[in-house]
Amino acid sequence: MSDSGIQQRIDTHVIPTYGRFPVAITHGEGCHVHTADGRRLLDLGSGIATACLGHGHPELAAALTEQASKLTHVSNLYYTEPQGLLAEKLVALAGGSGKVFFCNSGAEANEALYKLTRLRGHEEGKFEILTTQGSFHGRTLAGIAATGQQKVKEGFAPAVEGFRQVPYGDLKTTREAITPATGAILVEPIQGESGIHCATPEYLLGLRELCDERNLLLLLDEVQCGHFRTGNFFGWQTIMANHPDFAPDACSMAKSLAAGLPMGAIWASEPLQDVLGPGTHGTTFGGTPLVCVHALKTLEIIERDGLAKHAVSLGSHLVQQIQNLIAAHPAILKEVRGLGLMIGIELTEDIPAFAESKRPASVQIVERLHDAGLLTIPAGARVFRLLPPLNLSQSDADEGLAIIEGVIKELAS
Ligand SMILES: Cc1ncc(COP(=O)(O)O)c(C=O)c1O
Repeated sequence: MSDSGIQQRIDTHVIPTYGRFPVAITHGEGCHVHTADGRRLLDLGSGIATACLGHGHPELAAALTEQASKLTHVSNLYYTEPQGLLAEKLVALAGGSGKVFFCNSGAEANEALYKLTRLRGHEEGKFEILTTQGSFHGRTLAGIAATGQQKVKEGFAPAVEGFRQVPYGDLKTTREAITPATGAILVEPIQGESGIHCATPEYLLGLRELCDERNLLLLLDEVQCGHFRTGNFFGWQTIMANHPDFAPDACSMAKSLAAGLPMGAIWASEPLQDVLGPGTHGTTFGGTPLVCVHALKTLEIIERDGLAKHAVSLGSHLVQQIQNLIAAHPAILKEVRGLGLMIGIELTEDIPAFAESKRPASVQIVERLHDAGLLTIPAGARVFRLLPPLNLSQSDADEGLAIIEGVIKELAS
């Protein structure tokens, strides 16, 4: 089917919740995808930090095929081996204690955190969760109430009760915002959708102290920054590498947890691990054997191939090269931020080439990069993100850098 045929069918029959780019992807191999109009694009977005081993990975395909021929789904009314194996692995990666709950997406994983908070605080009337400005926690009604971005809330009033936003990184305001109804604080260790903003160790330590002092849960949304993208399984483990005693009370996961198959999960620490008891929560597809096998194989490959370390060293290389580019083109590029392979590049304001269109500069640069052969992800008004597969090679990374350099030079000329 032609490129325009694919786009037209979707535009005609799919509810238009997404503003899509005019790119129709038919297949991929490794870190490249092919389009219906015959182009080969380097994918440094990996489906917004999701296809963490790239496309068409033969070992993932084999694991999936083998499991599909045995057992795809049976319901959580029964026990299956892959779910237990994956839960055991995730608990080990979280530090060795606690339990996990499986669901299908990041919004759903966060929903489990909200319900856990409410059930735990139920008798004392502690139901409220403080979240942060600029955060993103998903598109359900509770998710948009938790999210600190006005644009996702518009038109959906009344908001789900029990969420308030405080400035990210501001311990004083957070402390002042706590009321007797507050039950938890939820933050992203690295804010993704707002344009890659990293928490400092002092901020996370301060939140931990505050939560301990006021009997609140410290919840971390690891949906985008987790799963080895920053060099450790959880983003907080990278940020808090020099603070071995630090631990949150619970975390949400999704995106690359199963390398592109729909899976979400929460990890809850030991004191919380049985709060969500039988009948309090659930989802039909959560922890289905097919997806668990895919996630287990993903983790096995990441560990076997040393991809966590690779993410750190390749990430430093990318950041270093982008810093050089910023130094060469300060009129176009303002800043690079990130950890490991979660990188945000901020553009300067008022780039003349973008003045003709009302669309955000982040979208306009991403489109120019598409035309030059590269997929990246916009964030906020002026940031484009690199969230590549963890098995990106140095030569593919350099191909991406060369494309970015070409587009920046064009904008500067
Ligand atoms: C930090 C964070 N939390 C939650 C979500 C929502 O995840 P999902 O789209 O799988 O519901 C996202 C998605 O971008 C995210 O980045």
